[in-house]
Amino acid sequence: MKHSEWIAILDYGSQVTQLIARRIREQKVYCEIIRFDTKAAELARRAPKGIILSGGPASVTDQGSPLCDPAIFELGIPILGICYGMQMTAQTLGGKVHRGLKREYGKAMMQTTKECLLFQGLDLSNSESAFGIPQKKRPAGEWPKNLQVWMSHGDKVEALPAGFEAVAESDNCPFAAMQNGLKKIYGVQFHPEVVHTPQGAQMLGNFAYKVCGCSGDWKMSKFIEDNINAIRAKVGSDHVLLGLSGGVDSSVVAALLHKAIGPQLHCVFVDNGLLRYNEAREVEELFGKAFGIDLHTAHSQDIFIDALAGVTDPEKKRKIIGKTFIDVFAEKARKVGKVKYLAQGTLYPDVIESVSPIGGPSATIKSHHNVGGLPADLKFDLIEPLRELFKDEVRAVGRELGLPSYVVDRQPFPGPGLAVRILGDITRERVDLLQLADLRVREEILKMPNHLDVWQYFAVLLPIQTVGVMGDDRTYENVVAVRAVQSLDGMTADWFKLPYEVLDSISNRIINEVKGVNRVVYDISSKPPSTIEWE
Ligand code: XMP
Repeated sequence: MKHSEWIAILDYGSQVTQLIARRIREQKVYCEIIRFDTKAAELARRAPKGIILSGGPASVTDQGSPLCDPAIFELGIPILGICYGMQMTAQTLGGKVHRGLKREYGKAMMQTTKECLLFQGLDLSNSESAFGIPQKKRPAGEWPKNLQVWMSHGDKVEALPAGFEAVAESDNCPFAAMQNGLKKIYGVQFHPEVVHTPQGAQMLGNFAYKVCGCSGDWKMSKFIEDNINAIRAKVGSDHVLLGLSGGVDSSVVAALLHKAIGPQLHCVFVDNGLLRYNEAREVEELFGKAFGIDLHTAHSQDIFIDALAGVTDPEKKRKIIGKTFIDVFAEKARKVGKVKYLAQGTLYPDVIESVSPIGGPSATIKSHHNVGGLPADLKFDLIEPLRELFKDEVRAVGRELGLPSYVVDRQPFPGPGLAVRILGDITRERVDLLQLADLRVREEILKMPNHLDVWQYFAVLLPIQTVGVMGDDRTYENVVAVRAVQSLDGMTADWFKLPYEVLDSISNRIINEVKGVNRVVYDISSKPPSTIEWE
């Protein structure tokens, strides 16, 4: 899609480059992460309002470290270099970078020494002064003196290039920030994109608005409007097929495409019998009935349960489910008839991986609903309407399109579904039991006012039985484990400190209301070394 204003972020491989993009987008300014060596001519053609050079693990003093095209400094487009980006700016323009032997890592206090647009009018109410006293909101136009920042660097700038002046210093860095106001080129040694720089997001906002002159036109309502036009122009009178799973991404793609092309959208929903309690019906009610989408449900519970009979190895379970899904999906897709496009819920983090000089952040786990490996007779062109969006933006689009909170705020759910939460043999009875236990977990956690802070929560059915008592009788029944975690992206996670009362009601409800369970345990392990799922 064409964007009337945007900021280019050149990626030098920092772990947190994505955070720069998210902070800029939160300021309602569109931005894209692009290759570190993008040519000046290409940038001139695409005309960003500003350029940000990210941090990165290399040293500019080393041969072969990733460098930008030096001509970008002559484009007249405002530039902000962050950490490695600042050092590269300084070195390219004739300054000197000192190769550090020791890393400076962590919080530092920085003093501003000159007026600088990046620091203008910062609201300091969410940070403390050097003396631990909360600071006050400043009138717009004033420059604060002490700022808390986050440092993570070895090298540092030792001599500024001609035309530059230092605008901030810290104990360890005489040039904690630099500017060439005339050419609108800025550099900061610290990381404004991380939360440990409390005013960092505002500084990036200052760069976007005060330096680059952005107006802030990146709004989800506008994204929807523009995207609908783009989809209509691309699809024309052809038809689009979408594998709908009920998860956030495919649900938002469905709602968006339906708004754009109505009856030309055909959704295939595979009910594999391994979904959560009532989920299949919810998907059918919402998309089939409420939205009126042409929905083709494959009621294939028996096919999946039969294919999984006797299988206990988790990887085998995943393979069988993946393969069965493709077979079932393909059969339904053939029945839909002539379709040119296959829609997918690819998101921006999946797209950015390819631009970093060091390969980018490690690959995120993708759902098996991303239908790769379809049979040769099913050939489609791809349509990926969410490929510019971060997850929180996808949720905002979903809300704007009228999807209910239980869909847009839905927690992640693994492609193989409950199969990887039933340890050991999978039978219809065990699926039924786990669905009911899982429902109790979800119902009780949803009563917590802060339930959106819990990243993922569910029940796991263990392959053992334990002794209990009921009245005068001994029982020998199943154990259910409860898992609830706090996480940002699923790569690492902490077990969630659920209040005792919530744990108590979960346990009581499962034991009293789910037949066949006489013991409930809470999983208090973090990832790593554990994983979020048990299989
Ligand atoms: P783990 O268990 O690896 O999970 O800590 C991290 C996140 O990924 C989800 N997950 C899966 N998602 N197919 C998926 O689509 C899978 O096979 C799969 N295994 C785990 C898990 O729910 C968590 O959100």
